[in-house]
Amino acid sequence: MNTSTPSDLSVSVVGLGPMGSALARAFVAGGARTTVWNRTPQKAEPLAAAGARLAVDLEDAVRASDIVVTCLRDHESTRAALDAVPDEVFTGRTVVVLASGTPDDARRSAAWAAERGIAIVLGAIMVPTPVIGTPDALILYSGDRAPFDGARPVLEIAAPRAEHVGDDPGLAPLLDTAMLEVFFAGMTAFLHATALVTQRGLRATDFVPWAREMLAILPATFDGLAHDVDSGSYPGDQDNLAMERAALQHMVQSSRDAGLDSRLPELMFDLADRQVTAGHGADGWSRVIEGIRDAR
Ligand SMILES: NC(=O)c1ccc[n+]([C@@H]2O[C@H](COP(=O)([O-])OP(=O)(O)OC[C@H]3O[C@@H](n4cnc5c(N)ncnc54)[C@H](OP(=O)(O)O)[C@@H]3O)[C@@H](O)[C@H]2O)c1
Repeated sequence: MNTSTPSDLSVSVVGLGPMGSALARAFVAGGARTTVWNRTPQKAEPLAAAGARLAVDLEDAVRASDIVVTCLRDHESTRAALDAVPDEVFTGRTVVVLASGTPDDARRSAAWAAERGIAIVLGAIMVPTPVIGTPDALILYSGDRAPFDGARPVLEIAAPRAEHVGDDPGLAPLLDTAMLEVFFAGMTAFLHATALVTQRGLRATDFVPWAREMLAILPATFDGLAHDVDSGSYPGDQDNLAMERAALQHMVQSSRDAGLDSRLPELMFDLADRQVTAGHGADGWSRVIEGIRDAR
């Protein structure tokens, strides 16, 4: 059981862009002894005023704490910056890399750390800056479990929802990317549909309650799609692809009639059309995953 109190805990934050600054502020507010460093020193000044100690250089920042949280633009700049610090300085410390990236970026950083004998945790921040330090703050972590467990009491100060999702260092960014795909596709579909209805005089705000009707059925729909995908069967007894293709044809046509960019409904029509043409018109929408998996 962890018996540390925040005042026993110390952390260094390297990289004070909007997110690094939010993390550092949360560590200070949570009572951890916090040391900060940023390439452009001016960005550290507000943190000093908030109670953080300013490191004189990056090496000083690494030496200051057992847990070193880096929040730079990407993995490459993180490795490049840390490469300037001698290997032995990292002995007994854990580096927590919170840069966004691809699964391969994270694996490269894990391999880089293993070569240098550095204990590393890879993280993906799943919330915007205002949520950092609140009970809703969620960060996904992956890579070796032991360094994560060691760093967890500190990490939970800034993001209480600290979820270790697996030993493969690429898993946190994989889930990050997949979750963002759901988010961006949802936002884009809403904007496309909004372009359609505002062409006919409705206001975007008039459409929101109708869009929410569709949102409300998505959770159960996701459960059903996931069940079909995992079981490899795509029943279409209640609604089938042939019927859905016709609905998508109407979406494409309405979009073209309104003079809109119709690529989004065309993409969805094409996904249905390929399966219907291949003889699967009686199956359900979940079969579309077969076409997505089989890029042509
Ligand atoms: N902001 C968000 O809402 C949010 C949400 C989720 C995830 N993230 C992720 O968090 C990370 C940081 O994002 P951010 O919003 O704080 O801003 P950012 O603009 O992506 O990061 C800026 C930070 O990276 C530093 N940096 C960039 N290249 C560097 C290099 N070669 N050497 C040393 N430092 C370097 C900058 O230093 P200088 O100040 O000297 O330029 C600054 O501290 C990103 O990977 C981002 O994707 C951000």
